[in-house]
Amino acid sequence: MQLLDGEKEQILSVVDRVLNKSNKKREDLIPVLQQVQAELGYLPALAMEKIAAGTGVPAADIYGLATFYNQFRLNPPGDHQVKVCLGTACYMVGGDITLESFERRMEIREGETTPDRRYSLERVACVGCCTMAPVVVVDDQVEGKVTPTRVDGIMLELEAKNGQTGKEDQSAGGRDGRQEEGEQE
Ligand code: FES
Repeated sequence: MQLLDGEKEQILSVVDRVLNKSNKKREDLIPVLQQVQAELGYLPALAMEKIAAGTGVPAADIYGLATFYNQFRLNPPGDHQVKVCLGTACYMVGGDITLESFERRMEIREGETTPDRRYSLERVACVGCCTMAPVVVVDDQVEGKVTPTRVDGIMLELEAKNGQTGKEDQSAGGRDGRQEEGEQE
């Protein structure tokens, strides 16, 4: 995942600060990873490398820890976060097909974020609305009976919102401008 303009400096400074407050030992790794994720929203590869350098723990071990616990995310959260329920009730009525439909539309796999960071896609366990299966949570809003046709509708709605946000951003010199600067690095 390409870093945005200024993101590298932000990552290095957050990791520095968090490491300085820890005793830089292996047994402190989980709280360190938690704190870094809390501040950055995810655990970038650069942060894990920097933590490895600061603690002397091999980067592969840190990556192993981060992938073992599902509390950690290795990709940045998208502007729009789509969570597809694959609990038993949702799975039984095609939750996996719903997930595949989102993967096709977003051109990413579950657990990933689109390169422009507009969308991230996750699978989740039962969200407690089984009577509405298959269920999808879009930016904290629960959607029920999400068939592939409804997936198309949800994506169109999100794209329409992006269009509006894009216009606001452009007039305010916001995200799209920043992204282009970052890509030129
Ligand atoms: S299994 Fe999906 S909401 Fe319960």
